[in-house]
Amino acid sequence: MPNLAIRGGEPLAKGRLGNPWPVFDDRERGAVMEVVASAKWGRSAYATPADSKVGQFEAAFAKFQDARYALGVSNGTAAIEVALRGAGVEAGDEVVMPAAAFVSVATAVVNCGAVPVFVDVDPRTYLIDPAAAEAALTPRTRAILVVDNGGLPCDMDALNDIAARRGVGIVSDCAHSHGSQWKGVGTGALGRVGAFSFQQGKLLSCGEGGMVVTNDEEVARLIDAYHHVGGVPGRPGPGSSVVSLACRMTEFQGAVGLAQLSRLKEQTEVRERNLTYLNEGLREIDGVEPIHRDPRVTRWGFYLVHFKFISEQFGGISRDTFRKALAAEGVSAGAGHTQPLYRHPIFAGQPGLRRVCPQTERIADTESWSLGHTAFLGPAADMDLILDAVRKLRRNIDELREVEKA
Ligand SMILES: Cc1ncc(COP(=O)(O)O)c(C=O)c1O
Repeated sequence: MPNLAIRGGEPLAKGRLGNPWPVFDDRERGAVMEVVASAKWGRSAYATPADSKVGQFEAAFAKFQDARYALGVSNGTAAIEVALRGAGVEAGDEVVMPAAAFVSVATAVVNCGAVPVFVDVDPRTYLIDPAAAEAALTPRTRAILVVDNGGLPCDMDALNDIAARRGVGIVSDCAHSHGSQWKGVGTGALGRVGAFSFQQGKLLSCGEGGMVVTNDEEVARLIDAYHHVGGVPGRPGPGSSVVSLACRMTEFQGAVGLAQLSRLKEQTEVRERNLTYLNEGLREIDGVEPIHRDPRVTRWGFYLVHFKFISEQFGGISRDTFRKALAAEGVSAGAGHTQPLYRHPIFAGQPGLRRVCPQTERIADTESWSLGHTAFLGPAADMDLILDAVRKLRRNIDELREVEKA
């Protein structure tokens, strides 16, 4: 009789790991019904827009991020585009960014008329390698777009140092890092401007939505104009100062966002506690390794967690067989956001794009595996199930070899 579920044996985890998502109750129901009843569904219906749900959400989010300004927008991709424009990115500029990211991070660059310049990641963290970013700067570079992949903050000391020395802006894509902190400061407030996503599955969900965060008064003025047909900050009417997007946040998103924000701190604590426990267990198993967490990461609010699979220490089994066998045991693991964007169909045929990122390719093809944030919202017993599943595969390497032969 085979032991492994992938060969017909009994799976370890029979139910769903973690929690359904998003978490909601009467707080969200009441908030949405209040907006419906008010008949003010967009903040332009308010004489003082700061009093709107969006305005209240912005104020609360700015505080949460340790930032002076926050601006609600329609989604995370629009947030990146608005942030880039706020940092001065224009047609013909170059924007240096990690090769491993969600595709719309790069299309936001293209939508500004700029060119994404893909650079390699640090193999310890899967985040943009500051040295690679600096080496890719040219006189045409306007910004470095850093991505907190998985929610892990980038090395902002090194990146801000490069930005100051070389005269470029840092734009942070924080779509995965709501709640994460670098040396006690929220990720959105660490560079010149930060962008968040509140899409359905994100750590703070409004179904759709985004937020742009900055400490810089001039950037705050620009992002307001760029998100609202070039309009004057805080005013309902369009202006004419800049060619811009129209990507305003609705009052429904603002109301749900406020309620979801009130849950985030506790959820982040539960996830971090469970991850610490899981990592302790994984360190005891040959062939799997937690991703490196820099001690300057003082809080890690992760959308997904990357782990390393080291085939040579796992009987020569491939990462993909490992993931399939883990899924059969009831632990669904992705490969994370690790694929180099220059392989994506949008960019694959484009001449002139940088395509030299050996670490990114190796990590994407052979090493990374990942678990989503909802797996960490349940009891500690779920972590034991994940550990048991990995241990079970480790014990049955001969069966995994049979799977690879088949
Ligand atoms: C890293 C990253 N940045 C940006 C986005 C875009 O956010 P949205 O889907 O809200 O446009 C995503 C979406 O998954 C993402 O993963």
